[in-house]
Amino acid sequence: MPKLGVNIDHVATLRQARREFDPDPIKAAKICEQAGADSIVAHLRADRRHINDSDIRRLRKTVATRLNLEMSINREIVKIAVSIKPDEATLVPEKRAEITTEGGLDVIRHFNRITKAVETLQKNGIAVSLFIDPIKKQIKKAKESGATVIELHTGRYDLVRTKAAQARELKKIKDMTRYARDLGLIVNAGHGLKYHNTKAIARIPGIEELNIGHSIISHAVFVGLAAAVKEMVRIIKK
Ligand code: PXP
Repeated sequence: MPKLGVNIDHVATLRQARREFDPDPIKAAKICEQAGADSIVAHLRADRRHINDSDIRRLRKTVATRLNLEMSINREIVKIAVSIKPDEATLVPEKRAEITTEGGLDVIRHFNRITKAVETLQKNGIAVSLFIDPIKKQIKKAKESGATVIELHTGRYDLVRTKAAQARELKKIKDMTRYARDLGLIVNAGHGLKYHNTKAIARIPGIEELNIGHSIISHAVFVGLAAAVKEMVRIIKK
């Protein structure tokens, strides 16, 4: 049974709509943990559009499960990660104009820079995960970078609209999970996972953790955060 990491970025997105104090992502993290989240995920973007430096510092002090910092390999952000020491860092590609993370890291193309960031973070006791598309060549290169964890991008599985295409994407994720596990990597998955499409991913043998944000925070607007997290925990764990 996979674990659930709840991404709380969009609690901060709502706060930033007024640039005041509410809702507080630190309070949200606590509620998520109490409702059964196994880790808290937050993305410190270079443009600080939602989570900011103070949030990350406060999360480090208050998160009782595990803090997974999503981040780019930007030098300033790596420096912040080293000083804050999250339990885990998930390296993602980041483009200023994108609405959310588009596609996985191209580990082949940026191998040297990624390897350097992996080394720096690991030297400081931070486990490193690479967010990549379910493609053999990328997984192989991720292993060569020294990272011990990968997160398979499930965005395409979410976006395709026909049953046949969904089945194809699901099979790709299943096959690539097995391939990565055989290489000795820990495999997580995430992006675009919702209440209706998570069960099939959670059933894939060998996936360690699912990282889910937008759907849980959206559902929380109507049912409350604790109920929204509990409902996702039920889907994943039963
Ligand atoms: N995993 C990674 C690496 C991400 O970048 C994101 C989005 O921040 C997520 C998971 C969560 O995606 P979603 O908000 O679509 O659930």
